[in-house]
Amino acid sequence: MSEIRGFPGWKMTNVDDGPEEDSKVEAVGPDQLVLLPVRATVLFPGMIVPIAIGRERSIAAAQQAAQEGLPLGIVMQRDDQIAEPSAEDLHSVGTVASILRYVTTPDGAHNLVCQGQQRFRILEFVQEAPFMSAHVNWIEERDAQSPEVEARFIHLKQQVSEVLELLPHAPPELVTALQALTSPSALADLAAAHLDLKPEEKQEILETIDLIRRMDKVTQLLAERIEVLRLTVEIGRQTKAALDQRQKEAVLREQMAAIQRQLGEDNGGGSELESLRDAISKAGMPSEIEEKATKELRRLQRMPEASPEHSMVRTYLDHLIELPWSMPEEPPIDLAEARRILDADHFGLEKIKQRIMEYLAVRKLAPQGKAPVLCFVGPPGVGKTSLGKSIARAMGRKFVRVSLGGVHNEAEIRGHRRTYIGALPGNIIQALQKAGARNCVMMLDEIDKLGGGIHGDPSAALLEVLDPEQNDTFRDSYLAVPFDLSRVVFITTANQLESIPGPLRDRLEVISLSGYTEDEKLQIAKRYLLQRQLEANGLTNEQISIDDDALRTIIRDYTREAGVRNLEREIGNVLRHAAVRIAEGTASTVEIKTSAIARILGPARFESEVAQRTSVPGVATGLAWTPVGGDILFIEATRTPGRGKLILTGQLGDVMRESAQAALSLVKSRANQLGIDEGLFENSDIHIHVPAGATPKDGPSAGVAMLTALVSLLTGRTARGDTAMTGEISLRGLVLPVGGIKEKVVAAARAGITRVLLPARNRKDFEEIPEGARKQLEFVWLENGDQAVAAALTGRYTLIAKAQGDDPDTA
Ligand SMILES: Nc1ncnc2c1ncn2[C@@H]1O[C@H](COP(=O)(O)OP(=O)(O)OP(=O)(O)O)[C@@H](O)[C@H]1O
Ligand SMILES: [Mg+2]
Repeated sequence: MSEIRGFPGWKMTNVDDGPEEDSKVEAVGPDQLVLLPVRATVLFPGMIVPIAIGRERSIAAAQQAAQEGLPLGIVMQRDDQIAEPSAEDLHSVGTVASILRYVTTPDGAHNLVCQGQQRFRILEFVQEAPFMSAHVNWIEERDAQSPEVEARFIHLKQQVSEVLELLPHAPPELVTALQALTSPSALADLAAAHLDLKPEEKQEILETIDLIRRMDKVTQLLAERIEVLRLTVEIGRQTKAALDQRQKEAVLREQMAAIQRQLGEDNGGGSELESLRDAISKAGMPSEIEEKATKELRRLQRMPEASPEHSMVRTYLDHLIELPWSMPEEPPIDLAEARRILDADHFGLEKIKQRIMEYLAVRKLAPQGKAPVLCFVGPPGVGKTSLGKSIARAMGRKFVRVSLGGVHNEAEIRGHRRTYIGALPGNIIQALQKAGARNCVMMLDEIDKLGGGIHGDPSAALLEVLDPEQNDTFRDSYLAVPFDLSRVVFITTANQLESIPGPLRDRLEVISLSGYTEDEKLQIAKRYLLQRQLEANGLTNEQISIDDDALRTIIRDYTREAGVRNLEREIGNVLRHAAVRIAEGTASTVEIKTSAIARILGPARFESEVAQRTSVPGVATGLAWTPVGGDILFIEATRTPGRGKLILTGQLGDVMRESAQAALSLVKSRANQLGIDEGLFENSDIHIHVPAGATPKDGPSAGVAMLTALVSLLTGRTARGDTAMTGEISLRGLVLPVGGIKEKVVAAARAGITRVLLPARNRKDFEEIPEGARKQLEFVWLENGDQAVAAALTGRYTLIAKAQGDDPDTA
């Protein structure tokens, strides 16, 4: 047994000693403690707290303890709402306390001042009335002197000093008390008692008897507290600094104004605000917008220059001022000059130039009228953008481009609200600022690449821009004032019509550019591209010449495109090669001939595949339509021993697969007429493949080519290498019309084909086929499959066919 701290003469009883039985309930022995349940208060050993008591049992307990000179067991209720707690409503660990003072005020209130002495644990309740008492186990704390404890003690002490430094009104006696402390457990309790914690958290620390764990808990809570305090102090400091700075500026500004007044320079202009005011009045804004701008300016005047809001308003005003509000003088369009400009900039494109001239004529006759929006549709590099530039030149207007490719967000078109950080006007308004003219020609490039996103539909915003009924009051979210777009000449471009959102497409007047034939490319190269590249590389006509055959070689073997963009690049490469020789002084003039091309550009990149591929039976040349213009494609059929299966590969869509099946059925039903051994179908599998295998393909228009490939395979007759074909085929052998004839035919001409087989019912499309392609090609119009086979196949039977015929499997 050892003496209880703070209670001389009191001895500790161990539980094992057994409680001393006492018949008298009121008499409380040394191991029995009078309990005082309290709400939301945790008393730590060593701390002094005032406790107000009101409950009858509490008063009885306090009086009993005071009269007998006994300590009180202060223990917290689990739930502070309970008015009359019973045994199970109390925590099991509390603090034994001595009563320093017991005060009864005249109005009958009882108050205690208690000092915590030592932790105890309740073992067993003895009675609940008239006051609570229980057998308890005193919890003795030894300040074990281990290095772990020592280290934590030093750290904790530092933390506490730090908190005290950060607290603005730390009581000085606390600082002294802290310095004097030598007991780690007392330090942990002191810190926990003064920390700003919930009662439950304090109770948890009280119940943590193990010293190291208790110190760790307190350390962690203190660390969090210090972080918060530091931030609070920092914020306070910054706010004060900003305030000081602003006050200082205000004083300086006042002084400056006073000095200016003294010097008579009060309204000497020069100031930023003056020049803004000046700019607003000169911008030519409509009066209500000018009023709004002036209002913003007044707001700006009242703001301290350093505030973020100041620069926001300032930027807003700059944007407003920069917009081309006033309408420039519009000279009438000179149609003859316009025609001259179109011809000077572009070769060929007769029909398109004609459409543009009509458009310009309408504009000339009704300058205020609501003109349609032109849309140039076609593969890359065919001159869509450059036609737009020519139109601007022909009309004497400024030209700006807005790229819509990858625009997913309505705000990119219409701008972000000003409340957004870093908000800007949308790209329509920005383009206008760039053009600096309200009647500019604005080219909206790639409207087919407009994305739909989660942040509003950009195509809806674009509809508003293009709609002549509402675009005279276009409202950009950033500017938040209407701007008149009705005088802007909008021109749009797209690679394909299909992916333009429907409502948008309805507003557009579509002009299709299909791509150039080899002859046209040659002319464009000679007249435009060569000249441009010479200039770009600092060369002259006299220094370098390049003959037609060389150009043709570049077109045929080094490019494969509908437009002329790569052609221009390759010409540039050839010229630069020659330029080096001239610059080195090894030659003063260079003539470039076909033979030199391979040396300069490397081996041919594209060769006439057609002749090579169709040299075996089972391959037919089809014509495909793709978003970047037409192209040729090969249908390959082959036969292996099997049981009559049809295998289809090359990423074919459902429609294309069905069309292959129909072609095969047709061949089977005509086997006799076509001279095919019917037995072949039963003991072989047929495999149709359409390279390039990785590109998805679909549509019915390869039907004729599939038929041709199958008949070629099964008869052993090769398909003609100079011929390409398109057309859907019905199960009964009729050739049905298909789309994209113009693009397909142009592609055939480009690939060096000289003969195309087309559905007779597509004759109406012949008109659209460009002159150049018409001249190069022979056209065969098909009514049915028999005609197709007759026109597509050669009379040649190849060795392979014979070999196949001799195949024992197929006998
Ligand atoms: N008929 C032509 N006559 C003269 N030059 C042409 C002709 N067609 C195209 N070009 C030239 O080819 C180049 C590519 O044309 P442009 O940039 O207008 O192509 P685009 O159709 O806008 O292509 P994209 O769809 O990739 O934007 C330009 O330098 C243009 O001047
Ligand atoms: Mg373009």
